[in-house]
Amino acid sequence: MPLPRRPTTLLRYLLPALLLLATVTLFTSPHALSSRLSPLLAASPWPGARHKHPIDGLIAAAEKEFEAKLARATDTIEEAAAEYRKRRGRHPPPGWDKWYAFAREKDALVVEEFWDQVYHDLEPFWGVPPAKIRRDAGRFEMRIAVRGGKAETGSDWFWTRIWLEMIKSVEEMLPDLDLALNAMDEPRMVVPWEEMRGLMRRAGESRRVVEVERVVEEFGLPAVGGREDEEGEEKGTRWEHEKHYWLIAREGCPPNSPARRAEVTTNFTAPPIANNDRLAHMRRGFVANYTLSTDFCHQPDLQALEGVFVEPLSVSSTKSLLPIFGGSKLAANNDILLPAPMYWNEEERFTGAEGASIPWAAKHPSAIWRGVATGGLNRESNWHAFQRHRFVAMNNATLLAQAESASPASNPSPLPFPLPAHAQYPHLPQPLHPWLSPLTNISFTDLMCANPGFAPGCNYTNPFYATSPSVPMAEQFHHRYLPDIDGNSFSGRYLGFLRSTSLPIKASLWREWHDARLVAWKHFVPMDCRFGDWYGILGYFLGVGGVEEGRDEVAERIAMKGREWAARVLRKEDMLVYVLRLLLEYARVVDENREVLGWVGDLR
Ligand SMILES: *[C@@H]1O[C@H](CO)[C@@H](O)[C@H](O)[C@H]1NC(C)=O
Ligand SMILES: *[C@@H]1O[C@H](CO)[C@@H](O)[C@H](O)[C@H]1NC(C)=O
Ligand SMILES: *[C@@H]1O[C@H](CO)[C@@H](O)[C@H](O)[C@H]1NC(C)=O
Ligand SMILES: *[C@@H]1O[C@H](CO)[C@@H](O)[C@H](O)[C@H]1NC(C)=O
Ligand SMILES: *[C@@H]1O[C@H](CO)[C@@H](O)[C@H](O)[C@H]1NC(C)=O
Repeated sequence: MPLPRRPTTLLRYLLPALLLLATVTLFTSPHALSSRLSPLLAASPWPGARHKHPIDGLIAAAEKEFEAKLARATDTIEEAAAEYRKRRGRHPPPGWDKWYAFAREKDALVVEEFWDQVYHDLEPFWGVPPAKIRRDAGRFEMRIAVRGGKAETGSDWFWTRIWLEMIKSVEEMLPDLDLALNAMDEPRMVVPWEEMRGLMRRAGESRRVVEVERVVEEFGLPAVGGREDEEGEEKGTRWEHEKHYWLIAREGCPPNSPARRAEVTTNFTAPPIANNDRLAHMRRGFVANYTLSTDFCHQPDLQALEGVFVEPLSVSSTKSLLPIFGGSKLAANNDILLPAPMYWNEEERFTGAEGASIPWAAKHPSAIWRGVATGGLNRESNWHAFQRHRFVAMNNATLLAQAESASPASNPSPLPFPLPAHAQYPHLPQPLHPWLSPLTNISFTDLMCANPGFAPGCNYTNPFYATSPSVPMAEQFHHRYLPDIDGNSFSGRYLGFLRSTSLPIKASLWREWHDARLVAWKHFVPMDCRFGDWYGILGYFLGVGGVEEGRDEVAERIAMKGREWAARVLRKEDMLVYVLRLLLEYARVVDENREVLGWVGDLR
C-alpha cells in the first residue's frame, strides 16, 4: 500500500500535538517577534533564574564537578590503594602493584572513579559461582585466551583481531584467562532487574576489606574454564531473537519504572510526539545530567524514537549473566565494556586526524553532519521512529518551514519530528527555518532501505531526504559544531570529535569505557535524544541575529578543553591502563579464592 504524502492517519495523530503546540507557541512574524522578545530578554525569560541563560548555569556546574574530580587524583600507590578500598569496599586485586607501575610509566592520571565502569560491569559476577563464569567464558563462540603471558585467538573477525592486538600490549602482566567477545554491534545481555537485584545482593554480601593476615596475594587456579569435574547444571544458553528490542531491553528496568509500566508501542507509522519537558535529566530545556539522559528507564517515549528499540539490525540476547565483553551497551545491558576496536585502531575515517588541528578561527561557524540512515532496519512502517531520520529532517529548512507554516486545522505536515515548544526556548526566533538554514549542513549519504526493491534510494523516504556525497572527517573539521548521533549502536567518531578543535554535540543512549572521565558541558555539549534542545543549543552558541548575541568564545573553550582532556585521559595508553585494571579484576572474580585474593603491599 503506497504511503500518501500527507496521510489522513498522520493528520489525526498530529492534530492534538499541533493544537497543544499552538497554545504554547506564538505564531508571529519575525518582526512582531523581536518586539515581543526584547522586554522578555531584559527581564530574563527564565524567571527566578540566577543565570541569564540556563546553559550558563550548566557550564558553571560542570566546572565545579570537574574541579572536584581533579582534586581526587592520587600521587602514590598507598593513596591510590586507600582510595580504592574506600570506593570499592575490597582490597585491590593481585597484581595491583604492577598495574600501578604501568599506569605511572604511561603517565596516566589516577582518579579512582575513572574505573567506575569496570566495577559497574563486574560487580554482578560476584553473585555468580566462579566456576560457572569460567565455564561460560571457555565455551563462548568467540574468544581470546591468555596462556602463560601470551594472548591468542582462533578468530579472524576484524574486531577480535584489533582487540587481540590491544590485549597483547599488556599480556605479560595477565594471569591465564579466557575472554568471551561479542562479535555483533548490538549488546548481548539483559538480565531482568529482579534477578539482577538478587545477584547484587549476593555480591554485596561478599564485599569486605578482609583482615590483612587472611589475604592471598597470588591468583590460584588458572582463570580458565571447562574442567570436566566442575559441577553445575549443563544448560545451553537461551538466545532470544525478538526484533522488537524494547520488549527485551526494558526488562532491565525496575518494575515500577515508566519503561516497564508504559504501554508498548507497536505501530510506528505516525510521527512520535517528543516532549522533553519535565524529564528528570533536563533542566529548563537542556540536559543537566548526561548520565541519566542515557538511561531510558524513565523515558518510555524513546521506545518510538530510537531505531534500536524498534528494529535493530540483529538481536541475539540472553537473560543469563554471561561474561561477554563488548565495545558499548545501553544502560540496561550487562555486557562488560572494553574500549571499542575503532578507538584502538585509529583509522583515518574515525579520527580525521589530518583536519583535527584546524584553528577555531579558520572554521565555518556552522554545524555539519553526514551519515548513513542507520539505527536499525528502517522500513516504510517504522522510519518515523529512527533518530537519524528525525535529526536530518529537523535540519532541513524546507521541511522545517513546512512544519512551521502548518496551521493546525488545515495543513499538518507528516514530519518525523515535533517543533520544540517556544515557551521552553524563548531566545529562539520564530520562524526558525530562515535562521537555521545557513547554520547547518546536514544530510544522509545513503538512505539504507531495509526493504529490497524500493530503490533507487528508498521510495518511502525519498520525498523527505536527498543524499549527498560523504564528507571525510578531516573535512568536517572545517565546521565548528559537530553533532554526534547514534547509529546502529554507539558512534565510533566520538573520540575523533573530542580530539579535534571542533565542538562535539552529543546525544546518545550508549555507554562506553570512558564515560566516567568526561564531564558534560566541560568537555562536550550534551543533547537530549529527542533533539528538542538542538535549536536552543545552536541559538546559545551562534546567536540569533538582532535578538541575542552568540557565545562563540564559550564554544571554542569547550572544544579546546575537550581536546586537551582527551589528550590527557583518552589516549591509547589510557585504554591499556583501563584494560589491564579490568582484566585483573576479571581474573579475580573468576578465581575460586576470590574473596580473600587481594593486594595489601601497603598494609603489611
Ligand atoms: C515502494 O516500492 C515498493 C516496491 O515496488 C512498493 O510496494 C511500495 O508501495 C512503494 N512505496 C511507496 C511509498 O511508493
Ligand atoms: C497504525 O496507526 C495508524 C494511525 O496512525 C492506523 O491508521 C493504522 O491502521 C495502524 N496500523 C495498524 C497495523 O494497526
Ligand atoms: C545524575 O543521575 C545519576 C543517576 O543516573 C545520579 O546517580 C547522579 O547523582 C546524578 N548527578 C547529579 C549531579 O545529579
Ligand atoms: C555543505 O557541505 C558540502 C561539503 O563540504 C559542500 O559541498 C556544500 O556546498 C555545503 N552546502 C552548503 C549549502 O553550504
Ligand atoms: C529537504 O526536504 C525537501 C522537501 O521534502 C527534500 O526535497 C530535500 O531532498 C531535503 N533535503 C535534504 C538535504 O535532505
